[in-house]
Amino acid sequence: MPDIFRKILVTCALPYANGSIHIGHMFEHIQADIWVRYQRMRGHEVWFVSADDAHGTAIMLKSKKLGISPNKLIREMQIEHREDFLNFNISYDNYHSTHSKENLFLLRKFFSCFKKKKLLEKKTIVQFYDDVKKMFLPDRFISGTCPMCQSNKQYGDNCEICGATYEPTDLIDPVSIISKTTPILKNTEHLFFNLPIFKHMLINWVNSSTLQSAIIKKTEEWLISGLKHWCISRDEPYFGFKIPNFPNKYFYVWLDAPIGYISAFKNLCAKSKKLKFDDLWNEKSDYELYHFIGKDIIYFHTLFWPAMLESMSFRKPNGVFVHGYLTINGLKLSKSRGYLITARDWMKHFDSDSLRYYFSSKISNNIDDIDIKLEDFIQKINSDIVNKLINLALRSASFIHKYFNGYLSDNLNNIELYQNFSNSKEKIESYFENREYSFIIRESMKLLDIANQYINQKKPWLLVKKQNRKITDVHMIVTTGINLFRVIMIFLKPILPNLSIKVEDFLNIRLNWDDISVPLLSHKIKKFSILYRRINLENVSGLFDFYE
Ligand code: MSP
Ligand code: ZN
Repeated sequence: MPDIFRKILVTCALPYANGSIHIGHMFEHIQADIWVRYQRMRGHEVWFVSADDAHGTAIMLKSKKLGISPNKLIREMQIEHREDFLNFNISYDNYHSTHSKENLFLLRKFFSCFKKKKLLEKKTIVQFYDDVKKMFLPDRFISGTCPMCQSNKQYGDNCEICGATYEPTDLIDPVSIISKTTPILKNTEHLFFNLPIFKHMLINWVNSSTLQSAIIKKTEEWLISGLKHWCISRDEPYFGFKIPNFPNKYFYVWLDAPIGYISAFKNLCAKSKKLKFDDLWNEKSDYELYHFIGKDIIYFHTLFWPAMLESMSFRKPNGVFVHGYLTINGLKLSKSRGYLITARDWMKHFDSDSLRYYFSSKISNNIDDIDIKLEDFIQKINSDIVNKLINLALRSASFIHKYFNGYLSDNLNNIELYQNFSNSKEKIESYFENREYSFIIRESMKLLDIANQYINQKKPWLLVKKQNRKITDVHMIVTTGINLFRVIMIFLKPILPNLSIKVEDFLNIRLNWDDISVPLLSHKIKKFSILYRRINLENVSGLFDFYE
C-alpha cells in the first residue's frame, strides 16, 4: 500500500465514431494507459474510462454515404475501436458510447438544470445554408479564403496558416464542402448557454487545478478576451439527441460528448458493486479526476466543461493533461490526404509494445507536436529493447541454467550497484506522475549501459573456464545481472505490458513496485525463451510508403 491511498478516475477524449483509430489517437490512449498502469502498480484505486463520440454532422453524413443507418455505423465502429484498444493493451475498465441510455438520461438532467438556473436563452442568428443539400453547414463544412491572411482553402472557424479565429460569415468566397456550391445565409433559432456568468469560477478553477503552464496561459487569454454565450443546439438533419419542445433541433455533439465521461462511469457503476456514482461526482468527492486530451480541444475542457459541471453542482476535474499532435516525417496525419497509419495497419507490421515504447521515448508534459520517423523507430527498438534490455537478461540467464540448475545465488556480487539501481525509484516515480516518460526511458537506458558494462568487465564467460575457478563468483555476478534487469523491468512495466508478462513468467515472479529495494535471491527462474524479436526493415514494406 502506498503512503497516501488515492482514488482516481482517468479518461481519454472520446474518439469520433466515423473513422478508424489511428496512431495519432493511440498516442493519447497509450500516454494515459501508462499513467493508469503506473498508478495501479502503486496500489491506488484507479478507474479508466472512455467511449465513442457517436453524434454530429460528420457521422450523419458518413452513414448516408455508406448507405447504412447511423446506428449501424456507430455499433460497428465501437466494436472496431474496442478491439484496437485491446490490441494495444489500453486497460479500460469501460469503453462506452455517447449514444447510450445513460448519456441521454444525464444530458436531460444537465438540460433541466440549465433551464432551472436560467442559463439558457433562445436567439435567432444567421448561418450558412447549403441550398442543394438542404442543410445548415457546421464551421468545418465550409471552406474559403482567410479574412486575415488571404490564404485559401481554410475552414469556417479558424485559419491553419495564420492561426486567426473568426466566424464562418467572415470567410471570403465561402464554399460548401459537401456540395461545392456557394452557401446562402439563412435565419435560424438556437439555444445559447450563459458561459460568461462562470468567469470567476473559471479563474479560480484554473488557478487551483493541475494544468500545464501553457494551458493556464491559453485559458487565461480566453477569459480575459471575454467569454461568449455558447450555442448548444443544431438544426436537422443531424445525428444526436433531440431537444425537448424545440422542433427539429438537436443538442450539439459537444454538449453531450463530455457528459459521456460521466455516463461511461455510470455504466461502469451498474457493473461493479464497489462503485457508487455520487462518491465520484459529488462536489466534495475524494476521488481525483483527470482528462487526457489533445491540444485542439482545450477550450471545451477548460471553459465549457467546468461550467457545465459547476451548474450541476458536480465536482470539477483536478487536472486536464494536454498533449501535442503526432506527425510522421514532419507531416500532419490526414485522412483525406491518405497520410495515416491506422492502429490495425500498425498491428499488421509490428507489435503494440514497440509503439508504446517509442511513444514513451518522446512523451513529456509539454504540448509540442511529436514527430516520428521509421528509421528512428527501428533503431530505437533494436538498440534499446533488444541490444540493451533483453541482452542483459539473456547473457545472465544462460549461465544460471547451464551451471546453476536455474537457481539464483543467495547473495549479490555487487550490492552497491544494485542499490544504485533501486535508488532511482523515486526519480522514476516523479517522472511517471508528471508524465515525463522520455526521462524514464533515458534513465533506464543509462542504467542498462552500466549493467551491461558491469557484465563486460566481470567476463563470467572467462571466469567459468579458468582453472580453479571460483564458481560462486560467477553465480553471484550473473545473479546481479538478472537483478539489475529485474529493476529496469519493474520501471518499464507500465510501458511494456506484453513483454512484462513474458518476463514475469521467465523470472517466475510478479514485477511489483514495492519489491524494488529487495533483490531476488535463491530463487528458481525458468528457461530463457525468446522475449522480444529484432525488427527488420522487411517488416515495414508499405506502412510508411506514402511519406517517401
Ligand atoms: N470527439 C472529440 C472529443 C470529445 S471529448 C469529450 C474529438 N474526437 S477525435 O477523434 O477527433 O479526437 C480524439 C482525441 O484524439 C483528441 O484528444 C485529439 O486531440 C486526439 N488526436 C487526434 N489526432 C491526433 C494526432 N494526430 N496526434 C495526437 N492526438 C490526436 O475530438
Ligand atoms: Zn489566415
